[in-house]
Amino acid sequence: MITLGFNYSQMHDSSACIARDGELLYAVAEERISRIKHDAGFPRLAIRACLDFAGVRADQLDAVCVGWPAPSRMILSDMKSFAKGEFPINYNNILNVTRTFASMAHQNGGFNLFTYHFGLTKAQMRFVDHHLAHAISAYSYGGFDKAAVVVMDGRGAWEASSIWYGHDGRLDHVLTIPWPNSLGLFYAQFTQYLGFVPNSDEWKVMGLAPYGSPGVDLTEFISLKEEIYRVNAPLLFERNNGISAIAKRLGAERTPESEIDDSFKNVAFAVQDACENAMQSLVKLATEKTGCRNVCLAGGVALNSKANGKIQASGIVDNIFVQPAASDDGVALGAVYAPYLDNGGRLPMKPLRHAYLGPEFSDAEIEKALVTYKLRARKLDDVAASTADLLANGKIIGWFQGRMEFGPRALGNRSILADPRDPEMNAKVNNAVKFREWWRPFAPSMLKEVAGEYLEYACDSPFMILTNPVRPEKRDVIPSVTHVDGSARPQTVEKDINPLYWNLINEFGKRTGVPVLMNTSFNLRGEAIVNTPTDAIRTFFSSGMDALVIGSYRVEK
Ligand SMILES: [Fe+2]
Repeated sequence: MITLGFNYSQMHDSSACIARDGELLYAVAEERISRIKHDAGFPRLAIRACLDFAGVRADQLDAVCVGWPAPSRMILSDMKSFAKGEFPINYNNILNVTRTFASMAHQNGGFNLFTYHFGLTKAQMRFVDHHLAHAISAYSYGGFDKAAVVVMDGRGAWEASSIWYGHDGRLDHVLTIPWPNSLGLFYAQFTQYLGFVPNSDEWKVMGLAPYGSPGVDLTEFISLKEEIYRVNAPLLFERNNGISAIAKRLGAERTPESEIDDSFKNVAFAVQDACENAMQSLVKLATEKTGCRNVCLAGGVALNSKANGKIQASGIVDNIFVQPAASDDGVALGAVYAPYLDNGGRLPMKPLRHAYLGPEFSDAEIEKALVTYKLRARKLDDVAASTADLLANGKIIGWFQGRMEFGPRALGNRSILADPRDPEMNAKVNNAVKFREWWRPFAPSMLKEVAGEYLEYACDSPFMILTNPVRPEKRDVIPSVTHVDGSARPQTVEKDINPLYWNLINEFGKRTGVPVLMNTSFNLRGEAIVNTPTDAIRTFFSSGMDALVIGSYRVEK
């Protein structure tokens, strides 16, 4: 059976993936190919890439599955929220809901566009409930026979959070917390208050939080007294004469790009703290309801690596798997397996050991791009050793190898790399390359073998989605990847999963005694991570990187 899964909601992060006989072959987000960050359009390019990789035509597919319900069910849910007074009835909200419904209904949730672009197909076209798709994406790839599955996001059609019990390749629904009682909504509204882009820049709030202090009272906006958190959505949505209820209580909203004073840092602290507590209580509830302490997480809120790390260290769970593309790009990974649940069937249970699921470019293709741009490049005999020399000498390297990662993190195939021992490296990379906010931390990639030496509560962490405390004696050893609160968001690198990257870190370790690299995604601020050699070359020459190591070649300035 060949199945195609995709995400398309007109909201954000369209994507597609393809599986053959339960084996995930390929996955890519539309933004990487279209170069439109968080591209919300129909994922035409991503689907084309999936079909090309698998070598099939649309009419050879058995099922095409989108990780959203039919548009009619979406609008029904919105109408109910309007009727209950949870979602304010005003011109903008009604216009947005009506416009999205009309457009999605006209497109039949994207299936009409599929046929338009790829031709008629005998494939079954199916809608998969959004949280079910997230839940499959967490359970099926998590590697546990039995698991408590928790989905937390901004919104599904009617869902905000949900708990599932995964066992024997099936998922039992345990409970759903309906939208708009949503942690994602709570975090997004404060992200906007703090002068950032909601549903996109939540990372910035998480990074800012440790610079704040306790004291801001958010209990009007979120209550954590009961077993399940309670978000006061009507208040979060409220605006009078253009002033939000948040601003009325906490002071004027921050102007984007302006200085951040202590009051905003303190708000970030309180928002992150409330989110961590709410997530923890939900996970605890899931373990109690299912009697299972292996936990799988998905949904955009599960990208909160700080909260995930605290859950891991809390003692509530024995094991945790956070699906690396936890946001909506990852629902494609769940939707693609939905047909396996038909007629009492079981999901393919395929532990996800890496996220290298995207496009790859051969040396011949890379050479072609280098020739096009008339670049002088050196072919390297030993890519890892020669790059480690440069890194140990303080150079900032663009590193483009193998298949692109699926999900928001670069994991050593589309990365910018640097020496984590230099306390100034954070500022150097920020000024020369990323041009991003001063408080956002960089993350380390380290050999799996040394994780316990550097981190407390160390575990396999291949996806940079759990935060750990750095051991106090190591904080000065890797200062540029240790956040102000002493934490780091590590990637543990396994030799058999990514041998070239493992060798590079190992070679760096031989030269410096520290088998750890600073790893940040290969992109400029506000842009999607590079996909093709051309993207890499353009980004390299638009930044202050010292060298680009691309396939077997090295380009220097
Ligand atoms: Fe979602």
